[in-house]
Amino acid sequence: MAAPADSAVAAPKIPRHVAIIMDGNGRWAQGRGLSRTEGHRRGMEAVRAAVEASREFGVGYLTLFSFSSENWARPPLEVQFLFGLLRLFIQRDLADLHRNNVRVRVIGNRIALAADIRSLLDQAETLTAANTGLCLVIAFNYGAREEIARAVRSLAQDVAAGRIKAEAIDEAALASRLDTAFMPDPDLVIRTSGEMRLSNFLLWQAAYSELLFMPLYWPDFDRAAFVEALEQYAQRARRFGGLAARRGA
Ligand code: IPE
Ligand code: IPE
Ligand code: MG
Repeated sequence: MAAPADSAVAAPKIPRHVAIIMDGNGRWAQGRGLSRTEGHRRGMEAVRAAVEASREFGVGYLTLFSFSSENWARPPLEVQFLFGLLRLFIQRDLADLHRNNVRVRVIGNRIALAADIRSLLDQAETLTAANTGLCLVIAFNYGAREEIARAVRSLAQDVAAGRIKAEAIDEAALASRLDTAFMPDPDLVIRTSGEMRLSNFLLWQAAYSELLFMPLYWPDFDRAAFVEALEQYAQRARRFGGLAARRGA
């Protein structure tokens, strides 16, 4: 990718929330005669680049799709490796993230995870809870349909118990039960690897997100790619169903 000029992103059109489907680790590795796991390992470097660039440009929330509720369908060794990488990331990077005022949050179904991973994730959230810089949201064992089903179940339980009326269930009520209730919807959803689908990522929240499909594999994602994404975003006209275009608003 050509080195982009940074001038276009210095302006106010920085997305408040960027969400990324980090795809293409396996193909990146296979193209180099390496194992898929090596691709995942290199993908962690790209995670660091995305976090750094988000901080640099003042993005408020960065959500990273790290493991989907459908990724359990992969060979057990690959699944284990991905879990190991999450452990390693938290063990190695948490102190730095904390020092850099980053708040860490995790979305997805945590109940189904092993106790040691759960406690690492809890620890990351607790340690950084009061930080006021970038909010780094790790989507792990995340699937949008599962998340929505869980939210609906919890509303139904409240209705059954007489705590709320069925008539009180509106969009805001449902959104408030999603794992993402603490943050705004993504302004920009990026998917690397060239695949053009959402793969069960933030289906509710991305209703009006700008989608950007980038033709590079995740391990090749770097600051320049992030700048390119911000430039593309700044040129989009967001209308939210209305007529007045709000450029990258
Ligand atoms: C993304 O890379 C990482 C995860 C889904 C966990 P992939 O592993 O999906 O890489 P490709 O798509 O097979 O190249
Ligand atoms: C989406 O990528 C999930 C993550 C990036 C964590 P996949 O590689 O699992 O998606 P599909 O299977 O190609 O749709
Ligand atoms: Mg993939």
